[in-house]
Amino acid sequence: MAKKVLLTGDRPTGPLHLGHYVGSLKNRIEMQGSHEVYIMIADAQALTDNFKDINKVRTNILEVAADYLAVGIDPELCNIFVQSCLPELPELTMYFLNLVTIQQIGHNPTVKAECKMRGFEESVPAGFYLYPIFQVADILAFQAHVVPVGPDQTPMLELARDVARKFNDLYKTKVFVTPEGVYPKMERTLPGFDGQKMSKSLGNAIYLGDAEADVIKKVKKMKSDENRSSPADPGDPEKAIAFTYLDFFDPETSFVDDLKERYRKGGLPDSAVKDRLIQVLLAFLKPIRERREMFHKDPEALFSILQRGTEKAKEKTLNTLSLAKKAMGIEYPQLYSTL
Ligand code: TRP
Repeated sequence: MAKKVLLTGDRPTGPLHLGHYVGSLKNRIEMQGSHEVYIMIADAQALTDNFKDINKVRTNILEVAADYLAVGIDPELCNIFVQSCLPELPELTMYFLNLVTIQQIGHNPTVKAECKMRGFEESVPAGFYLYPIFQVADILAFQAHVVPVGPDQTPMLELARDVARKFNDLYKTKVFVTPEGVYPKMERTLPGFDGQKMSKSLGNAIYLGDAEADVIKKVKKMKSDENRSSPADPGDPEKAIAFTYLDFFDPETSFVDDLKERYRKGGLPDSAVKDRLIQVLLAFLKPIRERREMFHKDPEALFSILQRGTEKAKEKTLNTLSLAKKAMGIEYPQLYSTL
C-alpha cells in the first residue's frame, strides 16, 4: 500500500526553539519512517509580514534547515523544500480564493490574534490577511493526509478541509484529499521562560542552538510559585515554570514526581528544581547543538538537501495542479504545451 502523505512547514523568521520541538518536530520525527514526508520552509508566507526585511527570511532558511537536520529529521526520508520555488502554489491559491469568503477569513482566530500582536488592526496587509488560503494550497497541493502542527494551526486545517470538499464537490473530482491535523500529545503547550506563550517576538524562547550559558541564564529567570516567601514554605509545582519544562523533557518521570512531592510539602528550594532542569536541558540540547554547528559549516550540503527536496516537491505540485485544472476544465492544450 502507498504511504500516506505528510506535509508541514515553518516560517523561516528565526531559528527554531523548544516550542517547535514539542509542538511539531517531535511528531514529524516519529512519523517520518511510515509516511511520504514533505517539509516546507515557508519563506513566501514569512514575507507576508516581513516583506521589508527579506534578508531576515533569506538567512533563516538555512537556520531552519540546520535545525531540522539537527533534531533528527532525516533527509533520506523527508523532502525538505523552499516554498517560493513552487509557483504552482500561488496558482492553486488563485482558484481556491473563489471558494472562500472574506468573512470566513475575518473569523480566523489565529489571524485575528496575529494581527493584534503585529498592530495590524487598522490596516492589514492583504498578503498577510490571505495567508491562510495560501496555506490551504500548501497542504492540498501535496494531497496531504496528515499535517503535524501546533494547535494554533487548527483554523488553517479546517479551512483546508472545507476547500478540499468544496472543490471536489463543485468540479466533480476526487483530486483533493481532506487532511487531518496531528497535534502534540501533551495537552499543555510549552511556555516561554517568562510563562507567556513561547515566541520569537516576545524574546522568551529557548532555542535549539542556544549556547549552554544562555540556557542556564534562561532557566534561572523562570518564574516560580510566587506565593511562597521562603524555600521552607509549601509550593505548587503547577506555578513553577521549571516543573512544566521537566514534565516535557525529563525522561525520569518518577524522579520528577518525587521532586514535586517535596516541593508541595515545602523545603525544596527552587534552585534545586532549576539545577535539575539545567542538567536535563543541557543533555538534550548538546547533540542537537553539535549537529547544528556541523551543518552550519557546510552550507553546500544544506543546499543540496534543499535542492533534492524541492525537486521532489515540484513533481508533486505540478501533478496536482494539472489534475485540478483538468477537473475545472481550464487546461488549454491549444494555447500551451501541457506537462
Ligand atoms: N503557518 C505555519 C506556521 O506559522 C507555517 C506553514 C506554512 C505551514 N505552510 C504550512 C504549516 C503548511 C503546515 C502546513 O508555523
